[in-house]
Formats: sequence, C-alpha cells, structure tokens
Amino acid sequence: MEPWFDIQTNLEKTIREVTAEMNIPVADFDASTRLADPRFGDFQVNGALSYAKKKQQNPREVATKIVERLQADNVLNTSFEISIAGPGFINFTLKPSFLVNWLETYASEQLLKTNASALYKDKIFVVDFSSPNAAKQMHVGHIRSIVIGEAISRLLAFCGANVIKDNHIGDWGTQYGLIIYAYKHFLDSKALEADPSEELERLYKKASAITKEDPEALDEARNELVQLQDGEPESIALWEKVNQLSLESIEEIYQKFDIRFDHYLGESFYRDKVDKVYQELTDLKIAEESKGALVVFHPEHSRFATQPFIIRKSDGASNYASTDLATMIYRAEHFKADHIIVITDSRQSDHFEQLQLTSQKWFQATDRKLPTFIMSPLEQS
Ligand code: ARG
Repeated sequence: MEPWFDIQTNLEKTIREVTAEMNIPVADFDASTRLADPRFGDFQVNGALSYAKKKQQNPREVATKIVERLQADNVLNTSFEISIAGPGFINFTLKPSFLVNWLETYASEQLLKTNASALYKDKIFVVDFSSPNAAKQMHVGHIRSIVIGEAISRLLAFCGANVIKDNHIGDWGTQYGLIIYAYKHFLDSKALEADPSEELERLYKKASAITKEDPEALDEARNELVQLQDGEPESIALWEKVNQLSLESIEEIYQKFDIRFDHYLGESFYRDKVDKVYQELTDLKIAEESKGALVVFHPEHSRFATQPFIIRKSDGASNYASTDLATMIYRAEHFKADHIIVITDSRQSDHFEQLQLTSQKWFQATDRKLPTFIMSPLEQS
C-alpha cells in the first residue's frame, strides 16, 4: 500500500470520517491535527476535550472510545501508534514501517517534486523573515530567522510554489525618536564613518539610558518622533540617512549568507496605509476608542477579552499593530497571497495571535479572502 504523501491532511480527513461514523457532529469535534510535542508523538488532535466538555462526559473516556474506533481503521492502524495523553489528547506516532515505506516510495527528487507539486504548485506564499529593526544592530534571532526563512523558501520553491521573500524591516518605530534625539546631541561623526551600525547602536543605547532618567530628554525624544511622523523635512532627512546607513550594514550580512529578498517592504512603507485600517475597523465596530487609543478586544477569547490590541496609540501615532494590519491587506490584495509565513521570535506570539484574530473578523466582514497565516515562533535568543 502506498503511504500517504501528505500525512497531516489525510490524517485529519480520516479522523473526520471516523468521528462522523460515530455520529459526532463536525462542529463539536475539532479534528484539526497539529504537530505534537515530539515527546508524545508526531501529530495531536484535541477535539475529545471540547466534545466531552460539551457533553459533560469524562474526556479520557471519550478519547478512549474514539481511539478504539481509530485503531480499527486499517490505514490508520498500519501507519500510526495511537495513544491518549493527559486529560484526553489523542497522539499519533508514525510507525517505523510507515517511515521506511514512505522513504522507499518517495525516494527520488522527481517523485518528491511531483507529489509536492500537487499540494503547492502555483500557491502564493509570502515569507517574511529576517526583518531586523533598522537603526539597531541585528541580533542572533534575526540571523536564525534568515537561515530558517531561506530554508523554508527554498523548500517551497522546490515544491513548485510561488515564493515572495519579503523583508519587513522595522524602520518606523519608536526607536527613531531616541535615535534622532541622540544623533542631534551625541553624534561622533568619525565613529559613524568608521562603523555606522556600531555608532547607531551606541546612540540608541545612550538615548535609552538617558531618557529613562531624565524626563526632559524623554519629552524631547518623543517630540522627535512626533515630528518624524508628521513628516517634518529635517526629521525625514535624518531618518532616511540613518536607514540608509543601517541597511548598508545589514546588506553586508545578507551578502555573507548569499541571500536575496524580493522586497524590502518595511513598516514605513505602510505609513500612508494605516488610516484606511483605522477607518475600516472603526466603521465595522471591530475597533473602539479606549483611553484615547484605538483598540481591538476579542471578547470570545480568554486573554484578549481584556488585553487590548492597540492599533493606534493615544498620541495618534501608528504602531507595530497598525503597520502589520496594513501589511496583511497589502499581502492579500497586492500579492494575492494564499499563505503568509512570518519567522520571528516567540515573544511576539501575542501580537500575532491578536493580529490574526482581528484580521479574521475584518476580512470576513469585508468579503476579503484571508491568507492562511503561520507564525513560526522561535524561542527567545
Ligand atoms: N522587526 C521585528 C523584530 O525585529 C520582526 C518583524 C516580523 N514581521 C512582521 N511582519 N511583524 O522582531
């Protein structure tokens, strides 16, 4: 028997069929399979927990009944060890015989390509990786994101996907208030010429330290940011200079890795696109004013019912959320992305979860097609 090529999709489909035979309504049983914690297996399904809760039954007993039925399925039984963990998670571990069979069946490059093409051919993937912050030095997390992002992009291209590599540079954040403030007061021009990224980093750190102690300096740095966001020519010129210097040193690193991006659509690219975001989300009543800021709550969610997704700050300035929402629309409409993959560190997982929840509501209400969104969270470096 030929082993499934696309294991996860087929596993989910079969679980659906088996639960349907057991008269478990689709809506009550989440059959979506996720990659399991490797200690417990390869894939996991959590539907027994919510189903048991709804039926007020013991989740482990429900899981046991489902597992018995799954084990009776010949394909599942020859492919997986199926077990129950914790309160009722169902875990699937691929059997060694399945793995050997898979390797033997799909061993050649051509066969791999042909099968993968059936899944990915002409699908449009935007892969957002590296995405460092200009005016700050790249840290090892950005380098790790380069390696993983490039590997994912090449694999997808091998599979026939249309891959768009987009470097979402952080070039429009609060760091510029600090940098411009420090640039005006503490610049060492010689040091800047010798090693721009080093000097910019020093200026940034100096401004961070001073503004923590000195409220007047903090006010000045804030004011610099406001002027920049208001498009003051002098501030814009300084901002461009800082960005240019910092991109040049970032580019040197990319050259060492021999990687190239298709686009560098950083945060600043979206600065004239955020008003539309505020307008639409307000009109749709997805966003609301709170303490002067524009925020989105997700009442159906345990944490985000009270933890706001701030999409415009109380001083009227845009932030990471505003530009990422505008990015979502741009990637969907301009690139016609089917899938978006962002490779960044796990400290941002709340941000991306809120971004996704907000986009789901927004796209649904405006009849737009939401690309599937995958954030690949890297542990903090
Ligand atoms: N600039 C961010 C950082 O350094 C990563 C950006 C990831 N992409 C995005 N669309 N938010 O952590």
